[in-house]
Amino acid sequence: MDMFRIEGPVRLTGAVTVNSSKNAALPIMAAAVLSPGKSVLKGAPRLSDISVFSQLLSDIGCKVTTQADGNITIDSTTISEPVGEYDILRKMRAGICILGPLLVRCGKARVSMPGGCAIGYRPVDIHLRGLRDLGAQIHLENGYIVADATRGLRGNEIFLGGPYGSTVLGTANVMMAATLAKGTTVIESAACEPEVTDLANCLNKMGAKITGIGSPRLIIEGVKQLQPFEYEVIPDRIEAGTFMAAAAITRGCLHIQNCRLGDLMAVVDKLRSIGVTVEAENGGCIVACSGRINPTDIITQPYPGFPTDLQAQFMALLALAEGNSIIIEKIFPDRFMHIAELARMAADLRKEGSTVIVSGVKKLIAAPVMASDLRASAALVLAGMAADGTTFIKRVYHIDRGYERIEERLNPVGAKITRENDSTV
Ligand code: EPU
Repeated sequence: MDMFRIEGPVRLTGAVTVNSSKNAALPIMAAAVLSPGKSVLKGAPRLSDISVFSQLLSDIGCKVTTQADGNITIDSTTISEPVGEYDILRKMRAGICILGPLLVRCGKARVSMPGGCAIGYRPVDIHLRGLRDLGAQIHLENGYIVADATRGLRGNEIFLGGPYGSTVLGTANVMMAATLAKGTTVIESAACEPEVTDLANCLNKMGAKITGIGSPRLIIEGVKQLQPFEYEVIPDRIEAGTFMAAAAITRGCLHIQNCRLGDLMAVVDKLRSIGVTVEAENGGCIVACSGRINPTDIITQPYPGFPTDLQAQFMALLALAEGNSIIIEKIFPDRFMHIAELARMAADLRKEGSTVIVSGVKKLIAAPVMASDLRASAALVLAGMAADGTTFIKRVYHIDRGYERIEERLNPVGAKITRENDSTV
């Protein structure tokens, strides 16, 4: 297992380029199943989640090839087995978005329930409700979702809201199935995240008829068939937001290239309010922070609110603010595994339910810490770059799920991160 050795404190300066979005790429890879033939995902990020999803597609009979330039070709001419195995789903929850495409392509599907997750309980009841509303028969059997649509799917009016607002992958699943259902589907309380918009744009490129894209009301007119796609996904807004927080926490100045500021308005607004400058620049932005960081309050919400996927990184940043901040997690109420690790680095944090009070400290102090999930590990990298001394982060395979070789991208702008073999595991 790999670990990171991070020397701090450092000041990041220079240019860093954002990769294409993992969370946009995964459902679009699933969309390749909707149309027999060769689809091409252009410039996919080299991440372990993308490899695991490629494995899932290979398991069902697709031929998946990755070129050196990052393009992934998915030949879905034959689907031999419409099954998503537990072994894949337990590693990567996003595998659930194969359910809708398999069901509508093959008339049946058997996909494992995802299982436990470090960021808390993540049910899929709304996915199933939406697919049932389209006419699928669904039951659970030995930990698997067994779905049948041999009599065809029919358009319907479907409400996809849940206790925490909309659902990103639930919207993706139902929207993909509805593209080939008979008649018109209206999804109310659809997720509006840019990744859902990107999927809808890709589906339309394949011949789907989706309107209301980017709004909570999607209207999908079913079509008889779709064409394979060639598609390049949007830049990763969460990676961009992580780099923004990296510039701020190291009191540095980063030119973040390939970043759509319009997807990050809530984050940019928060950064400006705490004293960080963010200027648009040529398809990206320049983020700089030289003085004090002011405290603030952050409430995570569905898009266009502040993203839960940046909550941990901003907790690390606010740990060094001059005053007390409040962070309220409204999407995943238990997404706080990073608290104990940040506290080991002398952050002053108090958790009450899904609220955390962050009392700013003058400095963070390096420590050995443990990565627990993708975004929590990103927060530890940020903290390590700002802390005095040498931080060791164990289990960095978590970060490799969502950030391509982060050390090779941050070291050229001033980070001192080395990947080492962790012989203690
Ligand atoms: N929910 C339900 N029932 C459902 C589905 C969701 O109650 O059937 C709840 C969830 O438990 C959660 C809320 O609804 O409280 C929102 O969950 P959502 O379904 O939107 O999450 P997701 O689609 O499983 C995606 C991203 C996550 C990101 C969330 C929220 C992908 C592959 N994953 O997950 O990304 O945090 O949306 O924006 O797109 C990450 O990249 O680190 C990550 C976890």
